[in-house]
Amino acid sequence: MLQRPPLIVGNWKMHKTISEAKELVQQLTRVLGDDLARIPITVLAPPFTALSAVAQEIKGHPYLLGAQNLYWEDQGAFTGEVSGPMLRDLGCRYVIVGHSERRRYFAETDVMVGKKAAAALRHELRPIVCIGETWDQRLGGQTKHVLSLQLTEALAGIGKDQAQDVVVAYEPVWAIGSGRAATCEQADEVHRHVRTHLLALWGQDAGTLVPILYGGSVMPENIGALLAIPDVDGALVGGACLDPVLFAKILRIGAVP
Ligand code: PGA
Repeated sequence: MLQRPPLIVGNWKMHKTISEAKELVQQLTRVLGDDLARIPITVLAPPFTALSAVAQEIKGHPYLLGAQNLYWEDQGAFTGEVSGPMLRDLGCRYVIVGHSERRRYFAETDVMVGKKAAAALRHELRPIVCIGETWDQRLGGQTKHVLSLQLTEALAGIGKDQAQDVVVAYEPVWAIGSGRAATCEQADEVHRHVRTHLLALWGQDAGTLVPILYGGSVMPENIGALLAIPDVDGALVGGACLDPVLFAKILRIGAVP
């Protein structure tokens, strides 16, 4: 058994009504055909409104369910928010936290991301903690510094004993939805840096177990080379996961031989 089996997450963002969501899952399953039995660990993260329908649709199939966000309180007067227990109840196993779109459009800070990650773990949801630098930060030579700060805050409340349930996703902000993915050299350098941070934080055994995903313009054309990088343990896929043919190709390439 691989220490970190490949993990591919499809982040649907704010796309798909309930009926469209069901259709997307059916199409993906049809396109994969017999290869469905060989796909890597695959998480589908539809919008909240389609979680229940997708949970029904994936029954008997090897996909896992993920959400795109959560609030850190379990319940209460927090209009418009969704909690960990609610997501667990729907069958979610994963939840994305701190996506750069949430940081940018909804003013999420590293401290908030940390609270969300800790809340997810309290409810047996694996948090997919997103980090990433802007293009300006990269140009300014600040990439590693920025990522270290984001990791320090976001993982502050998480103990070594919980590390095995944490997933980190490196998503350079400039690569998201731009068609300009990080090069393998860039991804390699950053993923090594993230691994070093995790090992320093949680020690060799626990730090080694954390999958580090790459996200940002992942396509069938680049997924193979990215996954061949030692510390790239999977991918967080946006645009391409909405196309069943493209996503099936990505899953086939990511399949464990
Ligand atoms: P993209 O999005 O694959 O469309 O670049 C990735 C993400 O935002 O998770």
